[in-house]
Amino acid sequence: MQFTRCDRTAAWGELQAHFDASGRALDLRQAFAADPARFETLSQSAPHVFADLSKNLADARTEALLQDLARECGLEAHRDAMFAGEHINTTEDRAVLHTLLRRPASAPPPPGPLAQPFADVQATLDAMLAFAERIRADHTITDVVNIGIGGSDLGPQMVVLALAEFAAPGKRFHFVSNVDGHELAGVLRGLAPEHTLFLIASKTFTTAETMANAQSAKRWFEQSGSVDVARHFAALTTNVAAAKAFGIDTTFGFWDWVGGRYSLWSAIGLPIALAIGAEGFRRLLAGAHAMDEHFRTAPLARNLPVRLGLLDVWYRNFHRFTTRSIAPYHSALKRLPAYLQQLEMESNGKRVDLDGQPLAAGTSPVLWGEPGTNGQHAYFQMLHQGTDVTPLEFIAVRDAAHDLPGHHPKLLANALAQAQALMVGKTDAGGHKDFPGNRPSTFFVFEALTPESLGAFLALYEHRVFTSGALWGINSFDQWGVELGKVLARDIEPRLASGDVAGLDASTAGLLALLRPPK
Ligand code: F6P
Repeated sequence: MQFTRCDRTAAWGELQAHFDASGRALDLRQAFAADPARFETLSQSAPHVFADLSKNLADARTEALLQDLARECGLEAHRDAMFAGEHINTTEDRAVLHTLLRRPASAPPPPGPLAQPFADVQATLDAMLAFAERIRADHTITDVVNIGIGGSDLGPQMVVLALAEFAAPGKRFHFVSNVDGHELAGVLRGLAPEHTLFLIASKTFTTAETMANAQSAKRWFEQSGSVDVARHFAALTTNVAAAKAFGIDTTFGFWDWVGGRYSLWSAIGLPIALAIGAEGFRRLLAGAHAMDEHFRTAPLARNLPVRLGLLDVWYRNFHRFTTRSIAPYHSALKRLPAYLQQLEMESNGKRVDLDGQPLAAGTSPVLWGEPGTNGQHAYFQMLHQGTDVTPLEFIAVRDAAHDLPGHHPKLLANALAQAQALMVGKTDAGGHKDFPGNRPSTFFVFEALTPESLGAFLALYEHRVFTSGALWGINSFDQWGVELGKVLARDIEPRLASGDVAGLDASTAGLLALLRPPK
């Protein structure tokens, strides 16, 4: 595939010159004073989401140069190749088509080779949603346990929590991901097998943690005298044959062109459909599809995922910021930072380009965060007065879904005040009490937290990660970096039993000896 790495373009040099001349020293307070239209110019609406970018360390010239950079790198062609089903995941020789999962049944079928995958998507979606409705109506099932890890856990877990307001009462949802038996044992303790549905979620159906948890769950189920595995276990996987070999007949499939961290829109989203129903799940897909269309068709200058992805490049490679913090001002978005960590860091945490050549510029920042206002009372001190600058992302929701008086205005006031304080600072108190200000943030606003707005926001993030990854010239859709540890764990596990440390480095050998059970 043809690509031009951003650091090998003419626009890169121009951006560096712009950064040296005025970008590095941009002062947000002066920028607002000099440009009364700054808020309008540097904010925009996109489907279901409003984003204020005006408190970022950039101006119209920065954005224009970044858009030149995107054009020179071939961002639009790369985006179109993804939507067309070209094998842009080159190291695995796969298409990247999570957007096809969101294309509504009512849309015209895509042309050519995507027509059949689209038909398969619709058939699987219908079957999965029919199953979800059946289970929702079955009041003997009170507990749903999703066993999966990474993308087979984080997306469904985050969305089920985020959309709890839309969930039908009467079912509890549990998510078991860690191979640490404390997690599964803790969940099983509160369950009755005859009232439980286990979902074994694994794209590959080989992931060690998930297989260990699935085996233990099945053993627990059978040891209780229960036999109806067909009714109490379902598998969500691309590897239907392995699920059947495991003894699960009810399976919902998906395809190798759905990356794990992009899979909540597929059968992996079954817990979501069980929680919010078929209609709710379709609303989630519709929100994401609206954002897909925005990303696919809006000009670069008014394309929100593109603008965000370009800012990410600006911050990482010119300002050299190494982290970005997420502050959702909504407690239901508690797991959003963890979900976004996988999305961005597994996608863009790469050190070689598409040709396997070492990169000269930095890639994924570290993402981290907690719901506001909790973060305010933990680490915001560092954000305001620490030595490093961390761009912060506020997510605020206009309408509350509760009627406790006074809480929501307090919450929103805190979000606004923190973004304001980071920017304006305070320099008249002296020494320890001074705030430097000029600390950047982006502020997202939803009217309400709904399936549509959440779907749109997650797709916005996916496409933003796509944008920065495309400019860096990396493959955002593989994850080879997780493999080595898996292989070494397989070698170490039997050594814990045998005590054999031959060939291990001294540190690993010493720690292994300490962790062996006492004789
Ligand atoms: O270890 C990384 C990873 O491959 C993720 O990309 C993926 O989401 C997770 O493991 C789980 O994989 P699977 O769904 O195949 O069990």
